[in-house]
Amino acid sequence: MNAYIVTGASRGLGAALVAQLLAQGGQVFAIARDTGSLPAHAQLMTLDADLADSSLLPLLMQRALAVLGTADSITLINNAGTVQPIAQVGAYPAGEAERAIALNLTAPLLLCDAFIAHSQHHHGLRRVLNISSGAAATPYAGWSVYCASKAGVDHFTRTLAVEQAVAANPVRAVSLYPGVIDTAMQSEIRAADVAQFPGKARFDALKADGQLSTPAAAASAIIGYLHSAAFGSAPVMDIRQL
Ligand SMILES: NC(=O)c1ccc[n+]([C@@H]2O[C@H](COP(=O)([O-])OP(=O)(O)OC[C@H]3O[C@@H](n4cnc5c(N)ncnc54)[C@H](OP(=O)(O)O)[C@@H]3O)[C@@H](O)[C@H]2O)c1
Repeated sequence: MNAYIVTGASRGLGAALVAQLLAQGGQVFAIARDTGSLPAHAQLMTLDADLADSSLLPLLMQRALAVLGTADSITLINNAGTVQPIAQVGAYPAGEAERAIALNLTAPLLLCDAFIAHSQHHHGLRRVLNISSGAAATPYAGWSVYCASKAGVDHFTRTLAVEQAVAANPVRAVSLYPGVIDTAMQSEIRAADVAQFPGKARFDALKADGQLSTPAAAASAIIGYLHSAAFGSAPVMDIRQL
């Protein structure tokens, strides 16, 4: 049995990943603030939690591994994220930058730390898939918090990969750019104030021209890569370049 811990599992890309992993016979531990929209499934366990509350993260991972720890392989998929605040530096709404960094950067780091600490005696395959963004490598005016948090995730993953390269049973870790996907996050981007986000027209056009991936298509490509022999050979990848 392959087991997966998926954050941001309630909708968008995360919900599509959960549906396909279950359909392939996987066991899934799904986390979001409200997982009530996920259809019940014998191999699905859900936990509602705010991942921006960093104090919860070690216990969350211990709970997940207590359930999944005997699986043949265990994969942590850090997918939860927010593009907010869409605001230029000097105009951050109070509290939003800290909250976004806690969700987009601190949560993947601490979940990964707890995953490695508490699964070190697991003899099967262990993987970490961090869902990053092309915004980690390309600066977009108005997205400084998002760009910085995803760049942090990428460099964390590179560092983790260097550490694991000399480990006895190395964790295979990848930070992956999933492409542009038709989810609520893209709706938020198109609803942004153009004064704060001057690049908005490009994202309006991508939607109007039918250039967005569906969550199901993106999830299928990501899972195919996750299960391939190539997964982990490079710590930062763009799904569009595979
Ligand atoms: N969509 C794109 O074009 C695109 C492009 C590049 C990268 N990405 C990345 O792909 C990932 C998924 O994005 P998406 O487009 O599917 O976003 P989405 O539709 O907005 O979904 C975000 C998910 O994260 C969860 N979440 C948000 N805040 C949370 C919190 N504080 N605690 C726990 N869970 C929380 C949400 O569930 P709840 O509201 O129930 O908590 C939801 O399940 C993100 O990391 C994003 O940066 C997306």
